[in-house]
Amino acid sequence: MAPRVASLLAVFLLAGCSENPSVLLDPAGPHAEAIGRLFWVFFAVAALVWFLVLGAMGFAMWRGSRRGAKPVMPREERSLTLLVGASTALTALIIAGLVLAAFMTDKRLIGLDGRHAIEATLTGHQWWWEIRYEDPTPSNIFTTANELHVPVGQTVKLTLNSSDVIHSVWIPNLAGKRDIVPGRSDSFYFRADKPGTWRGRCGEFCGLQHSFMELLVVAHTPDEFRAWQAAQRRPASQPAGVAAHGKTVFETGACALCHVIRGTAATGAGALAPDLTHLMSRRMLGAGAALNTPDNLRKWIADPHKAKPGVRMPPLPLGKMEMQALISYLETLK
Ligand code: CUA
Repeated sequence: MAPRVASLLAVFLLAGCSENPSVLLDPAGPHAEAIGRLFWVFFAVAALVWFLVLGAMGFAMWRGSRRGAKPVMPREERSLTLLVGASTALTALIIAGLVLAAFMTDKRLIGLDGRHAIEATLTGHQWWWEIRYEDPTPSNIFTTANELHVPVGQTVKLTLNSSDVIHSVWIPNLAGKRDIVPGRSDSFYFRADKPGTWRGRCGEFCGLQHSFMELLVVAHTPDEFRAWQAAQRRPASQPAGVAAHGKTVFETGACALCHVIRGTAATGAGALAPDLTHLMSRRMLGAGAALNTPDNLRKWIADPHKAKPGVRMPPLPLGKMEMQALISYLETLK
């Protein structure tokens, strides 16, 4: 029993040490801050009620044991009725107070929306995120996946879409949860006030791999963000040597049927799979299923169902030379 309790405790303690903590109580922007404050109000009230109830129960037990099985006097009955009335009134008051606190928080959140500097469309797919950065100039629009980069101090507006079932976006350190219902367009606003990396996730059960539907959010200084944006807008660079052979494998094989690599013959088919133009600039594979390393990439392509059972991508049985060439090519997609 003791080791089990200790390991459970360790899980809770170490949860704060994760590289990309996703914790509601460590807000990095005004939206999460407002929600965090509301959490503490609820917590304080609930704790107070808990102690009051425990205290009243303890008192009743102590008194009951002292007076034994004596019948209740009419005078006592009156004060008991008064007590029940007062408790009911207090309960109603507490509920009204909490509703008011929630309403004020909602009002504050709505007040934070509106003016935004960055606009992107976030589309939920089973089980990954498509992110399209909008721009008045069409040639500046670009698409990426599973990693949302934003500049510090600027409000971001995400237009939410789903291509299949109901998903929900939740970035605890930055903003509250928002459902994404197919066929219904909605918006989601947040602002990061300090540079950092946070984990967002899908907050609505959406099928077998709901747990591997992670959205990594990276907040940069404005200069860094501009550099990232410029790099993402560029088409893929032209490879040489064995990587050039890998490009042919990609373009002529099954990969190009679903994936897009801008600047190549791989134009995909709709948004069936993540855009891979700058694949190696991302940290994770399969929306959080594995770290993005050449070795994991090889395993993923050979059989993605090992790391993420049920994923839409089929296994790609390739010869050793072809696989090597393909990995060499993918490694150039920086
Ligand atoms: Cu998408 Cu859960």
